[in-house]
Amino acid sequence: MGPPKNAPRGDASIRVEGDPFALEQRPLPLRAVRMRAALISPFALTARCHGTPSSVSAARRPNRDGVERINYNSVMVLNGETLRYHLINRLKRWAGMRDGDDWDWRRYNIHYRGELKGIEKEHTLNIRGSDFAFEDGELRKKNPAAPDLHPNHRLLYETILQLRPASVLELGCGGGDHLSNLSVLRPQLKLFGRDLLEDQLAFLKERHPSLSADLAQFDCTLPFPIDSPSVDVAYTQAVLMHIQVGNGHRVALANLFRSASKQVVLMEAWTRHDFMGDIRRLHELKIIPWKEIFFHYRESPELRKPHLMVVSSSRLEAYPALADYKALAP
Ligand SMILES: C[S@@+](CC[C@H](N)C(=O)[O-])C[C@H]1O[C@@H](n2cnc3c(N)ncnc32)[C@H](O)[C@@H]1O
Repeated sequence: MGPPKNAPRGDASIRVEGDPFALEQRPLPLRAVRMRAALISPFALTARCHGTPSSVSAARRPNRDGVERINYNSVMVLNGETLRYHLINRLKRWAGMRDGDDWDWRRYNIHYRGELKGIEKEHTLNIRGSDFAFEDGELRKKNPAAPDLHPNHRLLYETILQLRPASVLELGCGGGDHLSNLSVLRPQLKLFGRDLLEDQLAFLKERHPSLSADLAQFDCTLPFPIDSPSVDVAYTQAVLMHIQVGNGHRVALANLFRSASKQVVLMEAWTRHDFMGDIRRLHELKIIPWKEIFFHYRESPELRKPHLMVVSSSRLEAYPALADYKALAP
């Protein structure tokens, strides 16, 4: 699955459609709920919505015009509980009772479980054994029967492994799949995870009971305490984009840069904040303690566009410099 790695960017026979973050950018639009399976079971609704999952296989049939379309829009599995969560969230917004972050974090785990179930229909969420390996600087699938990794996750892991850190911190680690996958791909990596929600951390322990990692609850919109982790690389995946109140995401950025000595890797929806402008400003204000700061990006071969930001305390020859933020957020 996934387009050929060497497919030229402008290959007219393949059209990449959709955005794996498109629907993460706002809570579930009700019109997007498809009651496809409702006649069979009211608890088996499928929603075309929300960020991370994708429906690649369904969309990879060549059309009559000979153009193969690869759709990275999202599919999420809804049950009665997740549907109720989204209805209440939407009603509260309509009633003007919510104008905060994208999600009602107190009950977010309900949504998150449904989202992961959706992703799992198409992608490998938890790398098992030797299904994938990091070889010659690339993250490769070794078992053809294993579903592909989600393009966001594949690019994130590959980049982190290329940077060769001894230790990593994931802020907003959620169910812990990324920490777990990194530990499968590089067992000697020292892992740290922080998340706002106790129930997300409990879910992580449920999913990964034997994961060896330093995990703790922390609200990253507060300044980190002095005994917070010091790591080579700190990263987020779909976290800062959802933090929309006040300076919350800027404090979170400051925390990342205070924890990491070498690089901060961000996989976020780039239009939700001016991430590059905010990081520059924090550096100018000496809130980011690095002497110098270099912006780079990596392109997603699946999506064929710049998709991930690497901010480094030294220049990285292997990655293109991010001179203009528009490359990520056109
Ligand atoms: C969209 S989920 C992404 C989780 C994980 N990174 C992943 O890709 O599966 C966002 C996560 O950020 C966490 N989060 C939200 N606000 C936070 C905050 N202020 N401090 C720490 N974590 C936060 C949520 O609890 C949730 O686990």
